[in-house]
Amino acid sequence: MYEQLEEIKNKCLSCQKCSLAKTRTNIVFSDGIPNPKLMLIGEAPGFYEDKQGKPFVGKAGQLLDKIFASVGLSRKKDVYICNTIKCRPPENRNPLPEEKEACREYLDAQIDIIRPKIILLCGNVAVHSILGDVGGITKIRGKWFEGQKNVHGAKLMPIFHPSYLLRNDSREKGSPKWLMWQDIQEISREYKKLENLN
Ligand code: URA
Repeated sequence: MYEQLEEIKNKCLSCQKCSLAKTRTNIVFSDGIPNPKLMLIGEAPGFYEDKQGKPFVGKAGQLLDKIFASVGLSRKKDVYICNTIKCRPPENRNPLPEEKEACREYLDAQIDIIRPKIILLCGNVAVHSILGDVGGITKIRGKWFEGQKNVHGAKLMPIFHPSYLLRNDSREKGSPKWLMWQDIQEISREYKKLENLN
């Protein structure tokens, strides 16, 4: 049992549970504030994240910051950001089942300590890790999932991964970017409700 985020991070720093330990430059543990109502779980570190030891610092991360900023949210004051796995898979391939399994205790411990009210599952890897086989992201994005085990009552929403948005430039009605705009507004509405409770 972990009691503090720092303890989990220290465990990750020396983790050798899967073969990604051999190829990583840095572990990528988290960014953002440690006591948020809103947590985002991405997929896995990429090239720049591995170099800097921080999640979502490459192009996809810059777009993510813009998406948050469009509704007044930021990692400096509102959000805790992490990934399903903490080490970069070579060539940015999808994480293997054994890598997700090995890293799972760290993600679960992060959720246990932070106890966010809202969790955004960014892309298929995060969705399937937390929600299991609920279908592809295009069908389930933008929907709230509640009553999930091991998330302390958090509301969960699958959203598109920003790297998918970077590959789909259209802003037309119904396009991935347009859908993301609907989703972030819904997330912002829910977040504001939580703020008004305080
Ligand atoms: N993509 C992710 O899912 N996470 C990162 O940290 C960077 C890119």
